[in-house]
Amino acid sequence: MRIHLNDGMAESAIKKFNDELPEFTITNNHLEPEELKNEVKNIDILVVRSATKVTRGIIEAGKDSLKIIGRAGMGLDNIDQVAAKEFGIEVLNTPGQNSLSVAELVVGMILSIYRKLNRGTNGIREGLWEKKLLKGLELSNKNFGIIGFGNIGKHLSKLVSGFNDKVFVYDIYEISEEDKDNYNIEQVDLDYILKNCDIISLHIPHNEKTHHLISDKELNMMKKSALLINCARGGVLDEEALLKALEDEKILGAGLDVFEKEPAKGEIYTKLLSFDNVVATPHIGATTKEAQYRVGINMVERIVNATKKIHFEK
Ligand SMILES: NC(=O)c1ccc[n+]([C@@H]2O[C@H](COP(=O)([O-])OP(=O)(O)OC[C@H]3O[C@@H](n4cnc5c(N)ncnc54)[C@H](O)[C@@H]3O)[C@@H](O)[C@H]2O)c1
Repeated sequence: MRIHLNDGMAESAIKKFNDELPEFTITNNHLEPEELKNEVKNIDILVVRSATKVTRGIIEAGKDSLKIIGRAGMGLDNIDQVAAKEFGIEVLNTPGQNSLSVAELVVGMILSIYRKLNRGTNGIREGLWEKKLLKGLELSNKNFGIIGFGNIGKHLSKLVSGFNDKVFVYDIYEISEEDKDNYNIEQVDLDYILKNCDIISLHIPHNEKTHHLISDKELNMMKKSALLINCARGGVLDEEALLKALEDEKILGAGLDVFEKEPAKGEIYTKLLSFDNVVATPHIGATTKEAQYRVGINMVERIVNATKKIHFEK
């Protein structure tokens, strides 16, 4: 019986797998889609992060052996859940384990843009001392808009409350009075956030309803001084519309950890990245030592629990 880790895992998690499921052999190497499709018939439990797309083709090829697909992370958009359900394969993820890391990256991006850290660093590298050009802004006492008040949105509201920001939240569900008090937030509609917030951070899943939720119309409603952060999923923000808004100086800047195309290579990204007021990272929201430890351990615990209810062929 075999557990295959296609996108790696924290050492502590691999050790826990070995300790708790000694009857399974662990393989830990990245297989490209075609290789994985050929090999999956020999895999009982497949664990991926965001780098592997577990397509219908892969699931169909593994339908006789595959019992569990583990997604070490939150988003399930890289797993064909419909196909997995069709073949009775359990899909498990680790909600909430990396949320704090994503929320901290948002704060890092805001401070980086507000205090022009890239420009400052590059200037000194080039022998410049651009003090006058580097006048920044404070994160404190701003109107902060959070779109999507789930695990990450909640962590973020706590962090920015520490800066004394007023936090406005838009979500499709009705937030309880208790949560509004606990997190010190006000629930408003999307237009309110777009029109009134100095910082707008996206924390929604990507699906048909949220595809290009932020596009030309929404960017045009934002304040000229608004900063937009996307650490959710590429497709929730229309990148062509963002480029236009930056070119026309409709907003103050943007922080991007996720892109419609990953890796973010091509003309649109060259253009977006040419702005000093854009900070970009290669989908590293969850990439901290602490988050990967929590995600790994939680993934193993969930898989171990699930194996108790499943019969594996030896
Ligand atoms: N950058 C990264 O590395 C990274 C890491 C983890 C998660 N993420 C992404 O961040 C996003 C949020 O993650 P989370 O863990 O907070 O998820 P979550 O499921 O806990 O929260 C998502 C929230 O969005 C709300 N929502 C859904 N559709 C909506 C809509 N149409 N309008 C308004 N609100 C809507 C939901 O009600 C929920 O409260 C996801 O897209 C996830 O994939 C990115």
